[in-house]
Amino acid sequence: MMNRVFPLLLAITLVACKPAMRKESINGRITDSAMVVCAHPLAAQIGAAILRKGGHAVDAAIATQLALAVVYPSAGNLGGGGFLLLREHDGTLAALDYREMAPASAATTMYLDESGNIIDGLSSKGHRSHGVPGTVAGLIAAHAKYGKLPWKELVEPAIALALNGFALTEKEADGLHGIQQDLKENNVVPPLFFLKDNWQAGDSLFLTDLGHTLERIRDLGAAGFYEGPTADSIVAEMKRGGGLITHDDLKGYKAIWRTPLTGTYKDYKIISMPPPSSGGVALLQLLKSVEPYPINDWGHNTAKTIHLMTEAERRAYADRSVYLGDPDFYNVPVARLTDKLYIDQRMRDYDPEHATPSGNIKEGMISTIESEQTTHLSIVDAQGNAVSVTTTLNDSYGSKVVVSGAGFLLNDEMDDFSIKPGVPNMYGAIGGEANKIEPGKRMLSSMTPTIVEKDGKLFMVVGTPGGTTIITSVFQIIVDVLDHRMTMQEAVDAKRFHSQWLPDTIAMEHNAMLSDDSLTLVKMGHAFRRRGGIGRVDAILVLPNGKLEGGADHRGDDTADGF
Ligand code: DON
Repeated sequence: MMNRVFPLLLAITLVACKPAMRKESINGRITDSAMVVCAHPLAAQIGAAILRKGGHAVDAAIATQLALAVVYPSAGNLGGGGFLLLREHDGTLAALDYREMAPASAATTMYLDESGNIIDGLSSKGHRSHGVPGTVAGLIAAHAKYGKLPWKELVEPAIALALNGFALTEKEADGLHGIQQDLKENNVVPPLFFLKDNWQAGDSLFLTDLGHTLERIRDLGAAGFYEGPTADSIVAEMKRGGGLITHDDLKGYKAIWRTPLTGTYKDYKIISMPPPSSGGVALLQLLKSVEPYPINDWGHNTAKTIHLMTEAERRAYADRSVYLGDPDFYNVPVARLTDKLYIDQRMRDYDPEHATPSGNIKEGMISTIESEQTTHLSIVDAQGNAVSVTTTLNDSYGSKVVVSGAGFLLNDEMDDFSIKPGVPNMYGAIGGEANKIEPGKRMLSSMTPTIVEKDGKLFMVVGTPGGTTIITSVFQIIVDVLDHRMTMQEAVDAKRFHSQWLPDTIAMEHNAMLSDDSLTLVKMGHAFRRRGGIGRVDAILVLPNGKLEGGADHRGDDTADGF
């Protein structure tokens, strides 16, 4: 557990004497009928162009994701996985799981030495850290069911970007600059496109191998990735670096349609991702936990509000550590965990005046068990179909392994498994039996693509990267808009905090609250940890006049585009 870091001193340095919420916050982009909000302006432009051609929101999501795989290599990907949540204009729901899975030869103790100690970095860097990628299978499954435009038209813009090159933004140049040593250490064949000592904003990046891989995907669909030359390159890469993914693992990968998780918060219906995401379950738990309290009267990021939300978060993350895993391998008690009576019972020892030390909180009693990098895009098409997609390589630039000859980065998603019971992963998340490594199993995720309905109509599309902070960021956005009446962009801009049971601290963005509130929280027994930006939320709000307000996160290069 982390130290309870000099609470008082830190509390004072975390705040400034100015309002936490920027009341003067500029509204996000507003469009009449269709919108894409994602992590990169070029990808947003491509998605919006697909919507202009009459494409379905799913078409736009596919073209946007493929474009992100080129222009946003830290998280946009072919070598990772994700979740897609869809609400059609008539209210029909669907959820697609294209999360990576453990290779067939993976084993529960594969990251431990003979004495049972964790081998440092093995689950998060290099060739042992990859799950079998799911992104391409996911995009193809989504297109087969919902695509209106031809597949080739959706892949073409990404190919053009990769082969013709594109200019790096400052953040991307910094990102690439920052991983040069990792690239050298984790690649047997140096990935030429990424190896340059001093990347600058405006430099052109040409990704020729990736462009050719995309051409195979354009021409052959799933077989262009999971079979033939791309699969051969992946397997050859595994042989060179001691990785586990085989031709059979690749050919055997399937995206899975799952039943979206739904619940209510006040007058709103919340639709989110079921396991193997922990996001939907935890989000519903968090919202139900705070529902009885007048958060709107208490105000945004006041001591009372932060205290209540933190106490709810401690309990939800304690449950996450025990009960959440891949539902095809572990009987996740979703209904019980999201049941109002259960949640009321969990909050029964909530004390409005005092923090409950996380050490005193265990997972709830369930009698009958029933069962830094990611990116999010939110899309609404002209017919009113809405798509919420979160996709990831896990860490920024994943494992830093580039498949030689195929030009894309592979994920390090295996670190999202519980590699040893009770030992935190790179996001500090703890797990056990439910999320232990097993061949063919999908690792637990926090990704929380979410859609909110009001009165049977689309109200909001929302999601974010951020590891375990994803769930609490989506939670805050919903509370900020529904309770604190912020605009979409104000909610995205608003300062965020995060708590996850263990470590027993509240992580705070700079200036997230007033000094009086922070001192009150310290007196209640809370400790703080300073954090850089929490999440990069991309969201769309349907305004009362039917127009769409985009909230694009200025913590990144995120952009809203549409018409
Ligand atoms: O699936 C998950 O929960 C993580 N692999 C997500 C990682 C992430 O969001 C990193 N981004 N900043």
